[in-house]
Amino acid sequence: MSRIVYVNGTYVPEEEAHISVFDRGFLFADGVYEVTSVLDGKLIDFDGHAVRLERSLGELDMAQPVTKDALLEIHRELVRRNDLTEGMIYLQVTRGADADRDFAFPDPDKVPSTLVLFTQAKAISKSAAAEIGLKVISIDDIRWGRRDIKTVQLLYPSMGKMMAKAAGKDDAWMIEDGQVTEGTSNNAYIVKDGTIITRHLGNEILHGITRKAVLKFAREAQMKVEERAFTIDEAKAADEAFITSASTFVMPVVEIDDVSVGAGTPGPVAQRLREIYLAESMAAAQ
Ligand code: PDD
Repeated sequence: MSRIVYVNGTYVPEEEAHISVFDRGFLFADGVYEVTSVLDGKLIDFDGHAVRLERSLGELDMAQPVTKDALLEIHRELVRRNDLTEGMIYLQVTRGADADRDFAFPDPDKVPSTLVLFTQAKAISKSAAAEIGLKVISIDDIRWGRRDIKTVQLLYPSMGKMMAKAAGKDDAWMIEDGQVTEGTSNNAYIVKDGTIITRHLGNEILHGITRKAVLKFAREAQMKVEERAFTIDEAKAADEAFITSASTFVMPVVEIDDVSVGAGTPGPVAQRLREIYLAESMAAAQ
């Protein structure tokens, strides 16, 4: 059975979904996106994703294509139509299709934005990778300076994943001015002497929705949290490391650049945070 996807107001089988060749998402990566996880058929932290989407659109002077309530309904309808119990919903908004290829933004009153959503089934809560932990390499962070905006310019993160694959590893952590920014598609953390350390918010990283929730749960559980930059050497000498994202939740990292982190197995802090995150977000799911 083919997937039912949402394109500009209609629900259609994926083979019947079409976007113009002039769409600015295709020509200029002029678009933003969100990935919301689904557990037990319910949306995890929909509000957080909706707020961040609004912010990304605002930073790029792009109009909101539909209201937040309409967006919630589209997410729920896609879950229903595709019988999705666990996985993600991908959402993309682009500045639409102008009459020609033109670097200047089109008049938003004449060119409506494009809105696309589709489901992706994935086992996130019970993950074999979470039992083993990930191996990462470090690479230079050469992305643009507004990583706080969730744009679809994902070529370098994609290349980073391929560099990791070529090295026989799972992912890459990116380094700028000697300090870790984030993973290719996730936020990065280390644990040292019981303190959870993750880079502070700014333009250099995406403000992860999972990050926000995990730090809140950690503080509520009386764990110590420091939001500051850390070096890759500090990470290699840490007791634990992990990542967070909507598509992995809390995922342990056990090796960085061929160096085992701590015991080289998923650490207790990451494992506990994963459990807390799953329980708390299931309880609050919409
Ligand atoms: N990626 N940093 C980057 C660069 C990301 O692409 C992501 C998410 C995150 C974590 O954000 P959140 O917790 O809101 O998912 C951090 C998504 C999952 C993706 O591109 O598929």
